[in-house]
Amino acid sequence: MGLTALCPGTFDPVTNGHLDVVGRAAQLFDSVIVGVVENPSKTPLFSVEERVRLLEESVKDLSNVRVGSFRGLLVDHARAQGASVIVKGLRAISDYEYEIQMAQMNQRIGELDTLFMATSPKWSFLSSSLVKEVASYGGDVEGLVPDHVRKLLIDRLVDA
Ligand code: PNS
Repeated sequence: MGLTALCPGTFDPVTNGHLDVVGRAAQLFDSVIVGVVENPSKTPLFSVEERVRLLEESVKDLSNVRVGSFRGLLVDHARAQGASVIVKGLRAISDYEYEIQMAQMNQRIGELDTLFMATSPKWSFLSSSLVKEVASYGGDVEGLVPDHVRKLLIDRLVDA
């Protein structure tokens, strides 16, 4: 049996920074599951079904990557999916405090380890929130998200 990694996140929407991490994880592990959290506490721009669909389209050429959604604890989802490690991208030191807390909690409650992957410097400024803000004011997000994501963003935020 191969090693499966879980890349969790909100992905509202997926950016090229996320895809950089997922793609590199796919080269390191036998299989990768992208786990889209349903996030009932936040109000995402895109429904969980939309976020999953946008991701599926984005990773369709990566044969060992599949996409699913989950609600509840990440450690439970990882166990149910047979994932033995979490992989998360770190853009900057500002990500670290929040990420290390979650990693240590997941180790504590689920004996589940997290591996941090340094985001490519090309994407270190990139976040879903900034992409949404720029797109909402009509700014150009070409090259920051896949084209099908950009189109849906414009539909939702600009042409609405
Ligand atoms: O894209 P994000 O916001 O960095 O993703 C955060 C995510 C989905 C990894 C985190 O919110 C999460 O794991 N949620 C599931 C609920 C859970 O397990 N909470 C305890 C984490 S220590």
